[in-house]
Amino acid sequence: MTGRALGVCYYPEHWPESWWEEDAARMVAAGITWVRIGEFAWSRLEPVSGDLRLDWLDRAIATLGAAGLKIVLGTPTAAPPRWMLDRHPDMLARGKTGQLRKFGSRRHYDFSHKGYREECARITEILARRYSNSPYLGAWQVDNEFGCHDTVLSYSSAALIGFRAWLATKYKDIGDLNAAWGNVFWSMEYGEFDQIDFPNGTVTEANPSHWLDFHRFSSEQVAAFSRRQAEIIRRYSNLPILHNYMGRITDFDHFAVGAELDAASWDSYPLGFLEDRSDAANSWKADFARQGDPDFQAFHHDLYRAVGRGRWWVMEQQPGPVNWAPYNPAPLTGMVRLWTWEALAHGAEIVIYFRWRQAPFAQEQMHAGLLTPDSREAPGLAEATQVARELASGPEIEGPPLASVALVFDYQSAWAWSIQPQGADFNYFRLVFEVYRGLRLNGLTIDILSPDVEDLSRYSLVVVPGLLAWTTGLRTALSGYHGHAIIGPRTGSKTEHFGIPASMPPDLLALETRVAHVESLRPDCSLPLEGGGHFYIWREITDGSSFIVERTVDGVAAMRRQGRLSYLCGWPDRVAMRRLLGEIAQGAGIRTTPLPDGLRRVETPGEVFWFNYAAEPVALAAVVGDSSLPEVLGPADFHRGARTESR
Ligand code: GAL
Repeated sequence: MTGRALGVCYYPEHWPESWWEEDAARMVAAGITWVRIGEFAWSRLEPVSGDLRLDWLDRAIATLGAAGLKIVLGTPTAAPPRWMLDRHPDMLARGKTGQLRKFGSRRHYDFSHKGYREECARITEILARRYSNSPYLGAWQVDNEFGCHDTVLSYSSAALIGFRAWLATKYKDIGDLNAAWGNVFWSMEYGEFDQIDFPNGTVTEANPSHWLDFHRFSSEQVAAFSRRQAEIIRRYSNLPILHNYMGRITDFDHFAVGAELDAASWDSYPLGFLEDRSDAANSWKADFARQGDPDFQAFHHDLYRAVGRGRWWVMEQQPGPVNWAPYNPAPLTGMVRLWTWEALAHGAEIVIYFRWRQAPFAQEQMHAGLLTPDSREAPGLAEATQVARELASGPEIEGPPLASVALVFDYQSAWAWSIQPQGADFNYFRLVFEVYRGLRLNGLTIDILSPDVEDLSRYSLVVVPGLLAWTTGLRTALSGYHGHAIIGPRTGSKTEHFGIPASMPPDLLALETRVAHVESLRPDCSLPLEGGGHFYIWREITDGSSFIVERTVDGVAAMRRQGRLSYLCGWPDRVAMRRLLGEIAQGAGIRTTPLPDGLRRVETPGEVFWFNYAAEPVALAAVVGDSSLPEVLGPADFHRGARTESR
């Protein structure tokens, strides 16, 4: 993989035109070679419906390009201008309680609204036609952060029309829908598709199958919305088309959106995410408040590498304090550099900082940029500049990472377990993320896979936690697979229609194990395991002839095994997760390296990267037992060295 580079998000429409040239020159002087523009500029591109004013964008592109920058041009569809509402008064989405998601911020549109989709197609075509041949253009971004601000599920009339039509296409016969959903229960049977409403607002919980189909429908609206823009751009341009996904957003199937784009990208805000989207204990959050969770970025790097089918970028990288988390600390000196390098080690082609200059107005005026509002250097700029120098002078990073372990991630499972958690703390993302952390704490490099994977032969170990229902691909891949696999908890516990499979969970012939019943656990009722650590949140009572590897201290099977298939009958806490995954990885012939909480390791074909997320130095060589490594790795620092160990 060649051409790793840095970029910055820039909003020419926010600044006097007389500043653009100097801004561009300063970017180039810092070693920045890419700039992303345009994604919120619709009101300046078309101030009144049909009155196009693209001359300023022509000049912005020319100025930035002439300075030597390559441009990512965003379609502006995440922020429709105010006049759009006059043309399409019913284009706004509605929240779960029916409230309108009004104009005055952004993402005020409904993915299902046909009129708005046409407007988006129109502006996309105008931009694609005009700029595709620009020598300065390097890539396209469609829209901005699908799903941000809880915008995937909408309860509008446009969505209802779409949902009914979608159900009619899927089931054809209303009787089939009734059977699939189990509507005989509580006399919920429908006589025709047009009687079906959204599953919100019911007296008590609605049918989980109804909810699951509503999630599927809503997810497909996002994919269709994205696909339409990509198809239009492709008619004019053969540059890569990307979207910028987010951290811990599971409301739509990113694999489905990614399948129609050329590469994935995501917006990485490590400190905001730690405060805003983490299940970690407060002590963990305090330890990493200025560094971010040591696994959160890495998880998404690996996830989006899969979504982008190997090609991915960071489209927005936190450069300093953000404005949107409950607490917004400044990063420890060195972290902006570390985050950037960690993304590169995981295979990012380009890392783009958000944003060039801090805005002195509107909602994000408290959000840091690489420059302060008065155009002085903010701390992030020096670190970005340092990375640019290091990239220019250092050896090329070979990629992608060299993973011996694969972890399956599935969006439908995230929907399913949010619909029916069966315990207040059961969250699918959390389960998969804690498995990921457990693997990383063993020093392992991981690939994340979609549940539609068909070939597992590259991996020595595959982990499938919490998968709602088996896909044909994964079932087949697993049956011909010669490595080790860890299944469960909760995997294979439902059919695609959200019922319990006739053969009972985990619904896997090769494993003579049946989950007879399950229980969720109160936070103060965790169950100690014989080998150390606990099950918490969830455990299952299993029977069958498979071998019992370990029990909880109350004598119930905690882990079962048959050949190379292990079944995990509960949700291990951090201590147990690290231990159990480490033991199985070793059993699969993988060399593990137990790591302290703040140290992480990433393997590429030619190198091993070490990242110290701790606020203190770590005695690297001693801690990992490798005297060829530096004795000490400073806080917020990383080391890259040639790979000497065998895999
Ligand atoms: C992202 C978004 C940007 C900006 C940024 C602030 O979610 O794409 O437009 O709002 O957050 O951190």
